[in-house]
Amino acid sequence: MQAVKITDKVYWVGAIDWNIRDFHGYSTKRGTTYNAFLVLTDKPTLIDTVKKEFYPEMMSRIASVIDPKKIEIIISNHSEMDHSGALPQAVAAIQPKEIYCSDMGLKDLTAQLYPDFEMKVVKTGDRIDVGGDTISFVEARMLHWPDSMFSYLEKENVLFTNDVFGMHYATSKLFDDENEERLWLYEAEKYYANIVLPYSDIVLRFLDSVQKMGLSPKIIAPDHGFVWRKDPSKIVNLYAKWAAQAPKNKAIVVYDTMWGSTQKMAEYVVEGLRLGGTEVKQLSMHSSHRSDVATELLDSSGLIIGSPVLNSEIFPAMADVLCYLKGLKKKYLVGGAFGSYGWNPGPVNSLADCLKAMNIEQVAPIVTSKFVPDEKTLQACKELGLAVSKKIAEKIK
Ligand code: FEO
Repeated sequence: MQAVKITDKVYWVGAIDWNIRDFHGYSTKRGTTYNAFLVLTDKPTLIDTVKKEFYPEMMSRIASVIDPKKIEIIISNHSEMDHSGALPQAVAAIQPKEIYCSDMGLKDLTAQLYPDFEMKVVKTGDRIDVGGDTISFVEARMLHWPDSMFSYLEKENVLFTNDVFGMHYATSKLFDDENEERLWLYEAEKYYANIVLPYSDIVLRFLDSVQKMGLSPKIIAPDHGFVWRKDPSKIVNLYAKWAAQAPKNKAIVVYDTMWGSTQKMAEYVVEGLRLGGTEVKQLSMHSSHRSDVATELLDSSGLIIGSPVLNSEIFPAMADVLCYLKGLKKKYLVGGAFGSYGWNPGPVNSLADCLKAMNIEQVAPIVTSKFVPDEKTLQACKELGLAVSKKIAEKIK
């Protein structure tokens, strides 16, 4: 397999995973890529590796431009195994003189790989000579792991950003200008919503500090999706927008149903939001994946949740999505809850605790229905939607 030239000195030597559909609970309908990069200076340097199973693909791409044994340096920007899984095999085959990672990278790589090789720790501001060019490092703690790090190839002006600015998007076209925005934009947004959203405050501080460092890379090369060469500022600006989480007149109604009662209630909640002038998405957990719900939540200001009762608990699919969304820590949400029950309304009422745990301002009482909702209950659902819509309108004024 062939390497792909990015600049005179930088090649893509990664792998394309066309078939992956579940990335630790995130649905990857368009697959993904594991990008690794080869810097062909006087001290050839490999930046990141790939998922273990893709080691042969990476090595064959490397071998298309250089004898792998000539690589002198390996840099690990991130220890998660989609980038470090092939590191032990690569080190054994290449026998590099030096391997670099962050302080937390050393701890995390050690705890995951139990390596039999030495690694050197670098921190923000450290620079290494790669023979004719210099690589400097910027730690990117919690973007999205404690060990995350950027590497910057100074003369070539290429910034290797690991997970940041990437997307799960398998493509044979390596560059932004070769890929259609209508296809990738949702995937970029989904990636932010599911992976980066909890760290949005850090994103804003990090973007600010990178700007103050005077970094203005010509190329941004993340470890998933494609390489930004035409307009790297595009994804940087999208990150600034997503991280800000500015309120928008949009809400989502997330629910599941057992015999159709909660479904009927959801329809009336949605109608209330619509009548209030709020853009709304009705998301049944029967047909929605948690990671797509998270994506819809990214630009929403309202979250209304609904569940029936099963064995004195909320419905399992709702427990799943609520646990998932809670971890994403979306800010500035208002919302409410509804649901149906047979003889125990307790689990539906417990949805208030879920809202509270997610820091969501509950703007109206929970609407409950014993078995099938009557007209009065359906009107209460509509009022719930209207109340949330009104609150959102106040917030975006
Ligand atoms: Fe693509 Fe955090 O690994």
